[in-house]
Parts: sequence; structure tokens; C-alpha cells
Amino acid sequence: MPEEITKDIVAVVDQKNQQFFDNAKAQLVDLSQYSTQALEWLMMEHFQFSYANVEFLADAVKVTTAFDTDAVKKELIRNHGEESGHAAIYRDALKRINVDLDTRVEFAPTTQFLKTISMLSNKDPSTVLGSMFATETAAIFEHQVFREVSKEVIKRGNWGEQGEKLVWFHDMHLAGVEQSHRDELGIFLRGLSPDQTIAPQEGDRPTIDVQQALKGAYQAVETMVVWWNAMIAEAQAMSKMHTATA
Ligand SMILES: [Fe+2]
Ligand SMILES: [Fe+2]
Repeated sequence: MPEEITKDIVAVVDQKNQQFFDNAKAQLVDLSQYSTQALEWLMMEHFQFSYANVEFLADAVKVTTAFDTDAVKKELIRNHGEESGHAAIYRDALKRINVDLDTRVEFAPTTQFLKTISMLSNKDPSTVLGSMFATETAAIFEHQVFREVSKEVIKRGNWGEQGEKLVWFHDMHLAGVEQSHRDELGIFLRGLSPDQTIAPQEGDRPTIDVQQALKGAYQAVETMVVWWNAMIAEAQAMSKMHTATA
């Protein structure tokens, strides 16, 4: 029966991610409730993922060598190459608007989040594929949110053209970089049913343990949800404190 067509795992993971985006976005639609200090702090936490992601990709490349085709590994190498210089650009762009990462104090939920993503990036190849697909999808959302946060901070501080590099950094990622990271990994997951155990090798696509890929993606989304909730709560608390003392 045509109406019985089950969603493939790309659709299933996208649905999970969409719930996460919608919830987080709803809390960040009105940036006026956040103090500038809180918004700057959020950017410094987002930088941590941007910085660490290069290592996660390097780990993912190593793990996916074990797949029976090299197509996933090749894509991750391409992604890694693209991301390699980005943390330095981001750090400099933030410094131009006086957000100095050297002043950052460790935030435990970020440490925990990065630890979990690192753990997922070092598991079996199918878990790594699922987890990377989920985080690359979320990267689109992150750059959308942080583009708005950046613009708000630039506006409040009258940073003018000193803020251009930061907006450009997010624009550049949104102009296809993250979309292609997501799509090029998604190719390997398309058409796989969530009820399937193993997807046998076909053309470029390696043999995939579908359940592991799905689990990896779910775990990645779950840890992103926990991290974002913690960041938003902290930013809100920080903003209240600021208004109370301002
Ligand atoms: Fe990047
Ligand atoms: Fe990416």
C-alpha cells in the first residue's frame, strides 16, 4: 500500500533534529530578553564546538576507514579540510567585537557535550556516520541562530564594519557549506528503513549497521538538546542577574 511507505532514517533523524531546533529557536526568537554579556557568552560556547569539531572529524575519518568502501571517509576528509582553518577565523572575528576567548571560564555542560560527541566520533563506523549526519544537520541551525546573535551584539555595540567578519563567517557556512556536509553524508543514509538491521554494500555505499547509525544520530541529537537547554538557561540567568545589578 503506497500510504504505508515508511520514512527513511534521514527523515526520522531530521524530525528529531527539527524538534530540537524548534524548541531552541523559540527561546531565542526574542533576543531583547538577553543581556549583551549573555549573548557574548553564548558565542564563546558555540566557538568551543566549532573548535573541537575539527578533531571530531579527524577521529571520524580514522574510524570510517573500517567501512568496506571509502566513500564516507572521503567525504569526511573533504569536510575536515574545509573546517580546518575556521576556528582561527571565528576567534579573530569575535575578537574584533571585543569578545575575547582567552577570558572564557569553563562551562561544565559544554565540556560534557564535547566529551559525548568525541565518544560518538570514536565508536563504530555506522554510529559515527549517524552522529556526524545529525551534527552536520544541526550546524545549519546553529549558524542561523548565531548569525542573529552576532547581528544583535554588533548592533548594540555599534561595531559597524568591525563586525562584518563575524556575520560573514556565518553567512559563508549558510551559503552551502553546512548544507553540503549534511547532504553528502545523507546520501549514505537515504532510503534506509528504521526497521532494517543491516544495509548491504551497494555501489559507493558501504555496509551500514542501520540500528547503530540511528542510535548514533539519536544520541547526538539528545546531547545537543541537553547542551542547548543548559546554555539557554545559563544565558537567561546571566541576563536576569545583569538587569538586577544594572
Ligand atoms: Fe566551519
Ligand atoms: Fe559542517
